[in-house]
Amino acid sequence: MFLLLIAIFALIAPAISRPQEPAPVVAATAQRARSGEESTPIPIINQTEDSSPDGNFHFSYETGNGIKVDEKGYLKEGQNASDLIQVIEGSVSYTDSNGTLINLRYIADENGYQPTGDHLPVAPPLPEYVVRLLNSTAQSEFSQGTSQVRADSAPAASVVSTPVPLPPVAATV
Ligand SMILES: *[C@@H]1O[C@H](CO)[C@@H](O)[C@H](O)[C@H]1NC(C)=O
Ligand SMILES: *[C@@H]1O[C@H](CO)[C@@H](O)[C@H](O)[C@H]1NC(C)=O
Ligand SMILES: *[C@@H]1O[C@H](CO)[C@@H](O)[C@H](O)[C@H]1NC(C)=O
Ligand SMILES: *[C@@H]1O[C@H](CO)[C@@H](O)[C@H](O)[C@H]1NC(C)=O
Repeated sequence: MFLLLIAIFALIAPAISRPQEPAPVVAATAQRARSGEESTPIPIINQTEDSSPDGNFHFSYETGNGIKVDEKGYLKEGQNASDLIQVIEGSVSYTDSNGTLINLRYIADENGYQPTGDHLPVAPPLPEYVVRLLNSTAQSEFSQGTSQVRADSAPAASVVSTPVPLPPVAATV
């Protein structure tokens, strides 16, 4: 009998001592409810989907709280007609917590991901010596043979990204 009691206690003790796991979820829900946040799911009021396995696709959706997403993908020929480039372009719009309408448009292609939107920060203009350096790099790549271009392009790129070697190079321009 005593052993049986110990066995029963051993079974229920962990359940008693372990903090109840759902508690944080309940607390978070209660907090949301107190702050007046909407707890019902946001409806999808429009959705389209048109995909094909060859890389052409188009989808869009719009939510009940004003989020609009539209994206399409297609293939285009690279410089070599046999090189196909997957292009993806789209847009996202929503109203931020300050009430500003955010409108992001983007395209991703052989030139990388290019976002545009009034809310995006604009980089300051490149210092004049960097512009001259890039120009002289481009000029020398044009004037040299293709085999030399390959050999030169790696050091040229590292010169641009590290500030230390810049002054001597700029001085020779
Ligand atoms: C749903 O979205 C598609 C694609 O953006 C659009 O052509 C269509 O007019 C929309 N339908 C409604 C009911 O808003
Ligand atoms: C174009 O394709 C041909 C044949 O595949 C290849 O020899 C050549 O190097 C390619 N040119 C470029 C610029 O990729
Ligand atoms: C809202 O405006 C405040 C004050 O200008 C700013 O600090 C905050 O980053 C803005 N929030 C968003 C989501 O843009
Ligand atoms: C680049 O260099 C060439 C030749 O020196 C010059 O004609 C051109 O104006 C330069 N362009 C810029 C943007 O500095």
